[in-house]
Amino acid sequence: MRVLSVSVRDFRCYEAAAAPLGGGLTVLHGPNGAGKTNLLEAIYFGCTGRSCRTVNDRDVLRFGQRAARVVIAAEDELGSHEMAVGFTPGEPKRMTYDGASVERLLDLTTRPLVSVFLPERLDLIRGAPGLRRAHLDQYVAALWPARAANRRGYAQALAQRNALLVRVSQGATRASLAAWDQELAAAAIALMADRERAVAALAPVFSDVAGAIGLDGNPQIVYRPRSHATTAEQFLAELRERLQSELERGFTDHGPHRDDLVLVHAGRQLRTYGSQGQQRLGLLALLLAERRVIAQYRDAPPLILLDDVMSELDRDRRRALVELLGRDGGQAVITTTDREHVPPCEGVEMATVAVAAGTVLNAPAKIGAPR
Ligand SMILES: Nc1ncnc2c1ncn2[C@@H]1O[C@H](COP(=O)(O)OP(=O)(O)O)[C@@H](O)[C@H]1O
Ligand SMILES: [Mg+2]
Repeated sequence: MRVLSVSVRDFRCYEAAAAPLGGGLTVLHGPNGAGKTNLLEAIYFGCTGRSCRTVNDRDVLRFGQRAARVVIAAEDELGSHEMAVGFTPGEPKRMTYDGASVERLLDLTTRPLVSVFLPERLDLIRGAPGLRRAHLDQYVAALWPARAANRRGYAQALAQRNALLVRVSQGATRASLAAWDQELAAAAIALMADRERAVAALAPVFSDVAGAIGLDGNPQIVYRPRSHATTAEQFLAELRERLQSELERGFTDHGPHRDDLVLVHAGRQLRTYGSQGQQRLGLLALLLAERRVIAQYRDAPPLILLDDVMSELDRDRRRALVELLGRDGGQAVITTTDREHVPPCEGVEMATVAVAAGTVLNAPAKIGAPR
């Protein structure tokens, strides 16, 4: 699915604005504070129903206003589509797809997939494993939407078992634990198999992409499961071994909720030993590699939103990134203060959107702001 335009009303610094997206690379440029990142966020918000920068929707509401609204126009081989997200504090978010109300845009398989690079997302590389697990599971869900159920199944079984562990440690019988252990083991094996397969597809592409954008030092990505079980029986045996200590702690300490996804650079964890520049390239390579793999499974690459990615790349790496985006195809949006930072490149379709002081300067009149 191709995104044609984004229109916003009272979103961040924009009162009313609209911008077209090109079919290839769209360069969003303007001075610092002009509203580039805000517009990128609006695209994400309109496609998914949530912000990529904040968990608090109130933050996106323009100061002093009562309601924010984002509309995305898109098209696929079946025709044109429209997604709209409206937010009023104190009310449930209103989301529609082609005019019909939807509970969660995020779960729709017909929406455009979006991937986003923000400088603050370096947390994904540097932060706790939980962030990487959540990211890995989103990537699994993008590859195979039906398998998102495996992650939910595991989370439910885990919550039930933890509740039971507490009760058993307070004197309840252990008998009922066996049934939940079976459930947990089956769910754990399914989830680990999904993650394993997804990372197996990603690993060679990650090394390739990371090299192409200039991260030397043999970069690699490795799935690191906590459990080494490959069958439910093996997982049950691992649980049995730990039962006594888990009863004492009152929670399950073993299983895929303790997995990690490890980025390796020059033989060491990028998370701990990489420079900020190397970590940025690692994050960029991760997102670009996932996008390339997703394109193989889902026909087209996701829309990728790249915020301020050029400022810390040297000239050769900027060029390499634009070439790679051109080769991989699909849509990309890059924000930059300096138009020159996105070099023209043969075969790469490029569109330009200029923003200044909360205004899109070159929006065609035919796409207006939402009412
Ligand atoms: N909820 C909001 N309402 C109004 N203005 C906002 C809101 N959130 C951020 N801003 C303003 O948006 C501007 C920054 O926009 P941003 O998109 O981050 O700029 P840049 O072009 O540098 O990426 C700042 O002036 C900031 O005060
Ligand atoms: Mg910005």
